[in-house]
Amino acid sequence: HDPKLPAYSTGDPNSFAYSTARERWPIILTQAIDDVYRTVANCDDAAQRDEGKKIVAELAQLKYEVQHDRALTPIRDDGYPDVAIYNKELEQLGPLTWLRAPWLFTECYLFRRMSTYFTLSQRWKNYDVFARQKIKTFRSSRPAVLELAARYKELITQMRTNSEHNPEAEKLIFMEMCEVCLWGNATDLSLLTSLTYEDIQKLQGSEARRKAEKNVLVNELPAVYAHLLAAKNDPAKAHRDRRVDIVLDNAGFELYVDLILAGYLLSAGLATTVVLHPKSIPWFVSDVLPSDFAVLLNALANPRSFYETPSEDDLLQNKQPETLRDKEIEELEFLFSEWSKFHAEGMLVLRPNRVWTGPGCFWRLPAEAPNVVEDFKESELVIFKGDLNYRKLVGDVSWDPTTPFTEALGPLGPASGINVLALRTCKADVVVGLQPGKDEELKQMEGGGGTSGARKWAWNGKWAVMSFSKGS
Ligand code: F6P
Ligand code: MG
Repeated sequence: HDPKLPAYSTGDPNSFAYSTARERWPIILTQAIDDVYRTVANCDDAAQRDEGKKIVAELAQLKYEVQHDRALTPIRDDGYPDVAIYNKELEQLGPLTWLRAPWLFTECYLFRRMSTYFTLSQRWKNYDVFARQKIKTFRSSRPAVLELAARYKELITQMRTNSEHNPEAEKLIFMEMCEVCLWGNATDLSLLTSLTYEDIQKLQGSEARRKAEKNVLVNELPAVYAHLLAAKNDPAKAHRDRRVDIVLDNAGFELYVDLILAGYLLSAGLATTVVLHPKSIPWFVSDVLPSDFAVLLNALANPRSFYETPSEDDLLQNKQPETLRDKEIEELEFLFSEWSKFHAEGMLVLRPNRVWTGPGCFWRLPAEAPNVVEDFKESELVIFKGDLNYRKLVGDVSWDPTTPFTEALGPLGPASGINVLALRTCKADVVVGLQPGKDEELKQMEGGGGTSGARKWAWNGKWAVMSFSKGS
């Protein structure tokens, strides 16, 4: 069911997979080891400590295997049926070693394998080895969080009090909300191996977003807006549910902007329900788990305790976080009351499914998860957030970059009846839907890859695409 083109490989020096496998995966594993170690050090339960030490040893062994290009071994059965899917594919791909293997499969395998160490334990079953990092970065995105909270409150209040209808202004607000949601993806934690917290803060504010507008290579939002508006005004749908789905990517700031978009769509009547699709196991460092949703709402409900209690690092550096102003608290509380009301009324729903942590691309969804595909046909719009979801949509293979997005979606293209919107900042090699000559032009820019054959401009989250495929 996969596209018939060569997959990006960790053995190809021209692919971002190459340095990802050699540099970034070992760092991610080291950070996981540090995290478990830290929890072990603070743990009073001897049995839990012993198990924790065993997990540290397993993670260290895995890191050794990656760095020494050892074979990928079958994943141990931890009771979930996807293990068989992973192992079957591993067998079909033939003997694989870490540094010469298909990027997409191997990276998914890495996170799936890590999760078995925890699920197979007694006392660490639900432990999220990336939670510390997620919370830490979310705290550090405080300036952008506050700026957006103020903007959101202003906008929603205006929408409620303004009886005048201004179609052009309304369209612009839709675009702004989608762009906010898009750029929240620029800063996932798997890239933190090469970015500092200061870099991240710079990427998140409205100033950065304005500057980044020219970096959107494909912008099909006007067609998306027309589509949602037509559904809203369709008398046949007047008493029906109009649903928008968001296949989530990262927790923290990105989840926050996803909720901004979701809340806005509901308030503007562009959707009557928004279904959010998180992951079921710790995934690609920063992806959303249901528990991250709870952490976020809690932070909004108790902003003082979230932002003003010194973190472990603050304590080490003898730093006291700045106090929040009353107006800021009020704005965060406004968000909390809006979103928790939507959640309580069933208009904002969380729906995890292990299909999102499988090894393959989404070309396989109709065969592997026909129920998900049927469900998505009922949706007015399915938004896929982020880089990994984009790689999975188009198969992480070497498409010519001018290939239409609709074609690269394969079985999820227009004939599927699913309306797909990808909001993705580019952090990998694959890209489609570009104008002829654009890729060459970007390669010629500084650090763009030149004539090396590598598409380096697409590796750092600086460029983005918002691609739409309308199902028929
Ligand atoms: O930087 C590359 C990468 O780690 C890819 O392996 C992966 O697709 C992506 O980043 C994760 O980014 P996102 O959180 O946007 O899916
Ligand atoms: Mg992610």
